[in-house]
Amino acid sequence: MVEIAVIGAGMRGCEYMSVVKYLHGRQAKATAVCENNPLRLKETAAKFAIAPERCFADEKDFFAAGRLADALLVCTQDRSHYRHAMAGLAAGYKNILVEKPVSPDPEECRRLAAAAKEADARVLVCHVLRYSNYYKKIKEVLDSGELGAVVAISHTENVGYFHFAHSFVRGNWRREDETSPSLLAKCCHDIDLIQWFMGAPCQSVSSLGGLAYFTAANAPQGAADRCLGGCAAKKHCPYDAERLYIKDPFYRATFIKYLGRVLTDSMKSTKASKLKALREGPYGRCVYRCDNDVADHQSVLMDFGSGRTALHTMNAFSRKMYRTTHIMCEKGEITGRDCDTGFRVKIFGGGERKVRTRFIPVTGHLEGDIRLIESYLKLLEGKPYREDYITSIDATVPSHEIIAAAEISRHRGGAKVLLGER
Ligand SMILES: NC(=O)c1ccc[n+]([C@@H]2O[C@H](COP(=O)([O-])OP(=O)(O)OC[C@H]3O[C@@H](n4cnc5c(N)ncnc54)[C@H](O)[C@@H]3O)[C@@H](O)[C@H]2O)c1
Repeated sequence: MVEIAVIGAGMRGCEYMSVVKYLHGRQAKATAVCENNPLRLKETAAKFAIAPERCFADEKDFFAAGRLADALLVCTQDRSHYRHAMAGLAAGYKNILVEKPVSPDPEECRRLAAAAKEADARVLVCHVLRYSNYYKKIKEVLDSGELGAVVAISHTENVGYFHFAHSFVRGNWRREDETSPSLLAKCCHDIDLIQWFMGAPCQSVSSLGGLAYFTAANAPQGAADRCLGGCAAKKHCPYDAERLYIKDPFYRATFIKYLGRVLTDSMKSTKASKLKALREGPYGRCVYRCDNDVADHQSVLMDFGSGRTALHTMNAFSRKMYRTTHIMCEKGEITGRDCDTGFRVKIFGGGERKVRTRFIPVTGHLEGDIRLIESYLKLLEGKPYREDYITSIDATVPSHEIIAAAEISRHRGGAKVLLGER
């Protein structure tokens, strides 16, 4: 039985523990947890049947206890991953899975990679998209050579207006100084995919973007500080928190309902506890009157040398959450949306085919999350896996470096920035 320790029993930590429990319960188990929110710790311990002596509220005690399991999952917030992964190495963990982004500072990514090598440990990063069938099959088509070399890529992440408001205006990732720039928080997966598909190092970047819409200047007439605070614009506002989190039948049934625990901290959130959270907490604030500063749209143009380029765009302004990808190669192209059942391969002067990657059209990255854990458990059990499909810390560093350079460029008004420039 593979034993797993988790630091950070929030949304991600508990999702991974659930995948382990419900899909791999015979081969693996979460046996230790560190979580500094008392309610979250208590509920997590109960749900996953973790022994009281293996539940920790303080990271110092958790790491001082030494290596408690075969693997450590670091699922705390963006600016703690580096500290917790380094502490995990020092405590003797030889297998550590770290949530992305590793750190807003690429130097910390490099230091973690070096420390892992030094300790002869394996540090992997949760770039879940690489594990989904959709992107894995795209990579297989590219690697087959059928389309010749990749010349250019155009990739867009449509975050979804409601998801953006939840995470990047009202929520955890709204301020760069607290977590990360939105490009890093939301798109280090995408940039990782792009450099994986390109198969060559990025040489320079240029980036434009910013916070255009979610500001006080765009507040409708009569907007109050809170949706439940007598807001005169509530009825026609797509961001009305009561509608998004409580009333809307579509989102209530899917994405936003899933986020009830974010609002209330409890796995057993009710309509009453959510309403209380919306009246008092951050998720009931007017989207035009928050303390957010991260970009709501950003484009990054990357130069991969020999005239090969890629363009990535992140934006808040879409009705649904999905990514579009267009890969332009010497002898053909790949086009697709990751919310569909597959992508299309079109050969110049030849035919066209659909590569099916799933049976039903779904959005989000749950499939990637599930396959990530499946691959991770294989690795822990010593079963065969493909090294180039594993997102090691070394494979992650380039995506974080590209984003750091893109942020420098954006703050310089789109100037070209060489990779590694400061
Ligand atoms: N791989 C992906 O696709 C993906 C998707 C979403 C988020 N993320 C990343 O995963 C990470 C976690 O996101 P989340 O949505 O689960 O956030 P979350 O806030 O729900 O979870 C983080 C948890 O860590 C706990 N915590 C914080 N500091 C701690 C400490 N010092 N000791 C113990 N516990 C501590 C918090 O109380 C919280 O419960 C973030 O870095 C986020 O950017 C990754």
